[in-house]
Amino acid sequence: MESICICILMAILVGNQAQAVDFNVKKYGAKADGKSDDSTAIANAWKEACKSTQASNIVIPAGTYMVGPIKIQGPCQAPITIQANQARFMAPANPSKFKSQSGWFTFQSINGFTLLGGTFDGQGEIAWKQNDCAKTGKCSSLPINVVFNKISNSLIRDMASLDSKLFHMNVLNCKNLTLQRIKISAPEESLNTDGIHIGRSNGINITNADIKTGDDCVSLGDGSQQVNIEKVTCGPGHGIAIGSLGRYNNEEPVIGITVKNCTITNTMNGVRVKTWPASPSASIARGLHFQNIVMNNVSTPILIDQEYCPYNQCQAEISDVSFDNIRGTTATQLAVKLKCSKGYPCKNVRISNINLAYHGSNGKATSECANVKPKLTGHLFPPACQVSSA
Ligand SMILES: *[C@@H]1O[C@H](CO)[C@@H](O)[C@H](O)[C@H]1NC(C)=O
Ligand SMILES: *[C@@H]1O[C@H](CO)[C@@H](O)[C@H](O)[C@H]1NC(C)=O
Ligand SMILES: *[C@@H]1O[C@H](CO)[C@@H](O)[C@H](O)[C@H]1NC(C)=O
Ligand SMILES: *[C@@H]1O[C@H](CO)[C@@H](O)[C@H](O)[C@H]1NC(C)=O
Repeated sequence: MESICICILMAILVGNQAQAVDFNVKKYGAKADGKSDDSTAIANAWKEACKSTQASNIVIPAGTYMVGPIKIQGPCQAPITIQANQARFMAPANPSKFKSQSGWFTFQSINGFTLLGGTFDGQGEIAWKQNDCAKTGKCSSLPINVVFNKISNSLIRDMASLDSKLFHMNVLNCKNLTLQRIKISAPEESLNTDGIHIGRSNGINITNADIKTGDDCVSLGDGSQQVNIEKVTCGPGHGIAIGSLGRYNNEEPVIGITVKNCTITNTMNGVRVKTWPASPSASIARGLHFQNIVMNNVSTPILIDQEYCPYNQCQAEISDVSFDNIRGTTATQLAVKLKCSKGYPCKNVRISNINLAYHGSNGKATSECANVKPKLTGHLFPPACQVSSA
């Protein structure tokens, strides 16, 4: 009898432990009326959940939440899920409301985090008109929509980012982070609204994203390692970009990037690798693999650009790169452009099965290569790098 009782008691205890605790932001005063500032309510719900020693859910019911710049910060005691499936967050439209320049919604120092749903509307229209990055070379005066900094073993699924003032998403110092079914959208003419930027992170897996922006679709900065980009659709925008790399002295290399089964439509570039002239580090990027990619009306579908290298001082070496089964249409005649550095030619490049059609009146698609001798296999159109120019 006693042992049965203990068993039942144990079962209740174990059951309780598995049950996540709910923290509903409405209980913390969120109005979700599209007028009141709900920042404090959300921050307070987070604070409580973060203290919980059991796994917790922050429930954000359907509605429109006005939110100022907010930092959702760990470390927390146990895994946390934010359930924001039908919630819409609206940023202040006026850029002067942002004192801290880094981000509007910042998630930082969290292990075991799950974000489900949520539309993050950056209301960027006023900011785009004030954007002077091109003139000043500095874009730090506008906030990034959603920042993930030091997030590990985590999942972001079904979230949407709209009309960011600057980049939509910045993934920095993250480890083992999966991003599934992300939707990103900003007009083609909005400046510097990169979709997902990744830097100094390891083990990032982006699948089934749909990204329409005025700048890069996904951009990989220094220290991006073991990144998988799969079944992502891009366009309009500038395509998938590795770099620019080598702009600063203390950069870490980019290693192990896979881009596969993606569709890129009406963009400036398809897949691009670019290094800057300074490029002080020896091996700047290696293990870059592009496979099964459809290009629709892309201006330059395949591009490696190390062209600008005054006095041949550039040491940046790009190695172990493959392009396999890249097909579709190119909007300009020059479909494949691989311009590697003279002092440090690209090493171990493989190209197989390329089929890019050009429908202009001045001839068929062409390629241009320098300081690279790729291994060529399969059907190649244009016949990439078979005529070499230095
Ligand atoms: C990666 O993160 C997921 C949670 O998203 C977790 O289930 C998995 O165990 C983690 N993998 C490693 C190797 O830590
Ligand atoms: C990325 O996630 C998908 C599921 O969304 C999974 O099938 C795939 O194996 C993952 N890839 C890597 C490299 O983790
Ligand atoms: C990826 O693309 C290849 C070639 O287009 C196709 O055969 C394969 O089924 C695709 N894989 C997935 C998981 O969609
Ligand atoms: C092809 O791309 C060009 C330049 O990006 C654009 O102007 C044009 O409208 C696109 N064509 C189609 C059919 O979408």
